Amino acid sequence: MHIVHIAVEMAPIAKVGGLGDVVTSLSRAVQDLGHNVEVILPKYDCLNLSNVKDLHYRQSFTWGNTEIKVWMFWVGCVYGRNDESRFGFFCHSALEFLRQNGSSPDIIHCHDWSSAPVAWLFKEQYAQNGLSNGRVVFTIHNLEFGAHHIGKAMARCDKATTVSYTYSREVSGHGAIAPHYSKFHGIRNGIDPDIWDPYSDNFIPVHYTSENVVEGKSAAKKALQQKLGLQQTDTPIVGIISRLTVQKGIHLIKHAIYRTLERNGQVVLLGSAPDHRIQGDFTNLASKLHGEYHGRVKLCLTYDEPLSHLIYAGADFILVPSMFEPCGLTQLTAMRYGSIPIVRKTGGLYDTVFDVDDDKDRAREQGLEPNGFSFEGADSNGVDYALDRAITTWYDARDWFHSLCKRVMEQDWTWNRPALDYLELYHSARKN
Ligand code: ADP
Ligand code: GLC
Repeated sequence: MHIVHIAVEMAPIAKVGGLGDVVTSLSRAVQDLGHNVEVILPKYDCLNLSNVKDLHYRQSFTWGNTEIKVWMFWVGCVYGRNDESRFGFFCHSALEFLRQNGSSPDIIHCHDWSSAPVAWLFKEQYAQNGLSNGRVVFTIHNLEFGAHHIGKAMARCDKATTVSYTYSREVSGHGAIAPHYSKFHGIRNGIDPDIWDPYSDNFIPVHYTSENVVEGKSAAKKALQQKLGLQQTDTPIVGIISRLTVQKGIHLIKHAIYRTLERNGQVVLLGSAPDHRIQGDFTNLASKLHGEYHGRVKLCLTYDEPLSHLIYAGADFILVPSMFEPCGLTQLTAMRYGSIPIVRKTGGLYDTVFDVDDDKDRAREQGLEPNGFSFEGADSNGVDYALDRAITTWYDARDWFHSLCKRVMEQDWTWNRPALDYLELYHSARKN
């Protein structure tokens, strides 16, 4: 099958958040199953081209009064939110490029509000005009942005998905979704096992698998403590890697930092806030905490891919207390590195993290063993319930904790299963 993604992010060359990871890793997984997958994305001035091969100018073509230049490249081991008219223009030129080249993909897969125009442009202007063979699949990564565009794309696409089953249920009554619910499916995201692999990761000091997880993580913890100026003590580390937005539960993140410190843990936060006020707020918090709890907490208020790898490996726990979370990748990556997720039960976090005390049956229904700590509610009592049990387990039941680290590493949160679900969906779209 020939599948073309039209999207505005693609990791690692143009990544703001999880959308960029998913476009790349889903494409690679489906390609590995023997299909021809291409991605069309805007050529931003700030593209990080260090991971691309064979960058070459391919052609230019004219659409309307504008000359559009097309570059081609291979993304090897792959990695702004922007403005409506730029993305509308991009979607139109991507379809025009396919038409003028006589390309006829079986599936055109677009993502979020930013490439939603592909769905209606395709149906209104291209389906009878050169690209008639194609079907449009539209994936919603986050319904919080651009609901109007999303509603329009939902009406026109052949199939729609979102990135977990529970989020698909949570948004089922939304005005953009409800009228089209019969063609809407939840398929959870996976992570790319080559990019996120503690056995070959260049950003961690000792490579490890589930067999030597204790040694590997202990070396990573020391390196992390040293790099960030934390005390080199045998202490549980709670890591947080997040876009700092209301979605991510920033009030609970702040509370959990203090709670962890009270319980003699250390905290490492890596995050950046798109909103200047939130960024300023965290900058103030950082200077306060770095003074009061010197050597026990570090807030790195920036975007730093290599540091994120070291945190996934060196932390004992990764906290994700989101208010809502369509899927979430950080909890999945955490498990790949043997770190235990502590999450709020919502969206994809609910579907992938099963509490060691409360979710044994629910996990086993999925053929899994419990793999983390989770909580309900949006106040501090909820997060305390999960965090306290996690830290107590670390102090009082260390052997059992280590067996949990080994267990989560052995669970498969890659695209192996969801890529097949997408292929099934692509086939059913073609039967329409
Ligand atoms: P979202 O897309 O809503 O931000 P996800 O959990 O789906 O959330 O994806 C977030 C991705 O961005 C993960 O790959 C995570 O490791 C990465 N990430 C988030 N913040 C940072 C940061 N400050 N530095 C490096 N990577 C980050
Ligand atoms: C969005 C969601 C996140 C999801 C990501 C990739 O940014 O907030 O939950 O994992 O898209 O689908």
